[in-house]
Amino acid sequence: MSSEKEIKRVTTLTLSWLKKNGKKISALTAYDFITAKLLEEAGIDIVLIGDSLSNVFQGNDTTLPVTMDEMIYHTKAVSKAISRAMIVVDMPFMSYQLSVDEGFRNAGRILKETPAGAVKLEGGVRLAETIRKITDAGIPVMGHIGLTPQSIHKFGSYRERGKDIDEAEEILNDAKSVEQAGAFALVLEKIPADLAKKITESLKIPTIGIGAGVHCDGQILVTPDMLGLNVDFHPRFVRHYAKLADEITNAVKNYIEDVKQKKFPSDDESY
Ligand code: KIV
Repeated sequence: MSSEKEIKRVTTLTLSWLKKNGKKISALTAYDFITAKLLEEAGIDIVLIGDSLSNVFQGNDTTLPVTMDEMIYHTKAVSKAISRAMIVVDMPFMSYQLSVDEGFRNAGRILKETPAGAVKLEGGVRLAETIRKITDAGIPVMGHIGLTPQSIHKFGSYRERGKDIDEAEEILNDAKSVEQAGAFALVLEKIPADLAKKITESLKIPTIGIGAGVHCDGQILVTPDMLGLNVDFHPRFVRHYAKLADEITNAVKNYIEDVKQKKFPSDDESY
């Protein structure tokens, strides 16, 4: 591989090549076919069917309620639009926490029942054995440490992690342990930029940041957040690349007005 243009399908090898060559990795979430098609056409490297599906698609307060069946259903829809990007699927809460075997079985289910190329799970040292077992079976694993939303009830808030020395040390150990267990990439969520830099420099696998500063090997955002669809959610790490909520509200208001005024449909729009 000598240039990004030659990439036919983003794989674990591509991501490692991008890191080695100092090129950044772009990642976004998708939960449906139409959005996935737009991300793919724009040239995104990784599409994550995130368990943020629970919040932004299902309207829940946390990521906890989403199920394996629902993740698989949405992955099938998203995958139909993707040919170049790597498809990564979040393993939902309680699909891998119970035991190593349970996690292994569920990771296998995702790759067996969908065209996804990898799974993602939250946790560091305590998940090393699970990650090892899954990767040994040929299933690529993306780790996720720092602020891990499936542990929200333990954390008590969505505040930044790793600010004090002990927590930073713990996160660094988690990162090393996830890499040693065989993961091909690691999401770093809401940790100080200098800690993310240290982790990124000490790992061979690429780091993908969300609220973790510019030194990560790549960045990920929740698509409805960065498109300005989710007006009630504006943490500092989200940049709004569009204001789709305003656009949509205006379009719908114009439609309602046209219907009420009998301006829609016109003769040209009728049979
Ligand atoms: O569920 C999700 O969307 C994630 C993030 C890393 C974006 O895990």
